[in-house]
Amino acid sequence: MLRISSLKKLVTDSMAIDLGTASTIIAVKGRGVVLDEPSLVAINEITEEIVAFGQEAGDMAGREGRDVVVRAPLIGGVVGDFERTKKMLAHFVKKARTGGSNLSLQAVMSMVSDVTQVEQRALLNAAEESHIGKVFMMEEGLAAAFGAGVLSTDKRASAIIDIGAATTNIAIVAKGNVITSTSERYGSNAINEVLATHLRRHRGLQVGEETIEFIKTTFASAYLPDDITKTIEVRGRDVQTGSPAAVEITNGEVYPIVEAIVRKIAEMVRDTLTELRPEVAADIYDRGVILTGGGALLDGIDKYLRNYINLPASVADEPRYATVNGLLKMFDDPKLLERVSRNELSVLQNAEIPFEA
Ligand SMILES: Nc1ncnc2c1ncn2[C@@H]1O[C@H](COP(=O)(O)OP(=O)(O)OP(=O)(O)O)[C@@H](O)[C@H]1O
Ligand SMILES: [Mg+2]
Repeated sequence: MLRISSLKKLVTDSMAIDLGTASTIIAVKGRGVVLDEPSLVAINEITEEIVAFGQEAGDMAGREGRDVVVRAPLIGGVVGDFERTKKMLAHFVKKARTGGSNLSLQAVMSMVSDVTQVEQRALLNAAEESHIGKVFMMEEGLAAAFGAGVLSTDKRASAIIDIGAATTNIAIVAKGNVITSTSERYGSNAINEVLATHLRRHRGLQVGEETIEFIKTTFASAYLPDDITKTIEVRGRDVQTGSPAAVEITNGEVYPIVEAIVRKIAEMVRDTLTELRPEVAADIYDRGVILTGGGALLDGIDKYLRNYINLPASVADEPRYATVNGLLKMFDDPKLLERVSRNELSVLQNAEIPFEA
């Protein structure tokens, strides 16, 4: 006989939400990733209203209409613009729902490890106001580890380096626990910044974000190319005259600019690995590190890291989806979910709620 509770489970979406600075990725149990969109909103500057979300807002970025501005409400890895984050999240959740239904839900969501109480409250608030039912919060590094294939039963330590847009998070986990984690508020977007600055200062060309992203993802590499004379034409706006213009750049010119940022990330990894307890260090010596996040897709970054830290380094399958896949796995193991979720709701509910007017 089918009991009401099990019946309810059949029609309940279990949703995993990775609310990232660059993209929001949502996966639903039984369906996998159902939404992967930029964490952006387009705002009408006069009415202050949101006119587009996600991909639609992303398509406007850099070519906005007169009164429209495209913003990333989560820049910095936390809820910078709470009201807009809330609306964006609500929009994405609605879109991700099975058949647009209004059924009860449970959700698990990731947060960066160095998140403050205030930021955590804001995230949870944003989630709850999206009417997603019960919301569990889980540390990003642990989710990424599970998503990258680390088992919660494994007693030996694994190191996961998540390189996101605005944060790089290093987590050392064992037995489904975080042993240590460090997080810096810079990530792969730092490469975009230095590339744009280089083009403006040294080549006299102002370029948009889409162009820079294209250079980074198709032309840049973390290792010195054999042939450094490959060229690409970059178009934008001449700094002096303001006219539309183009310059040619070589991969040899791009390499040292990109390497400077990759080196910073590698230094952070190396520093973290020097502070491990001997047994943990022994495990990592054997296993090396696993890379996740969109930043891991930079051509050759695993090779660079391998050379830099003298340990194995590999990129997880679907590195951008590691966190969301790890979150999704929690629904198969409710006990583990209970143990790893960091809601501390009783504490939080009594705390001051600074964002509500
Ligand atoms: N093929 C690629 N090559 C190089 N970089 C890439 C590639 N694809 C994505 N990226 C970069 O990865 C970053 C986004 O990664 P990800 O989606 O993991 O970020 P996020 O989770 O939204 O950010 P955060 O974790 O900082 O909040 C962006 O900086 C993007 O430019
Ligand atoms: Mg991320």
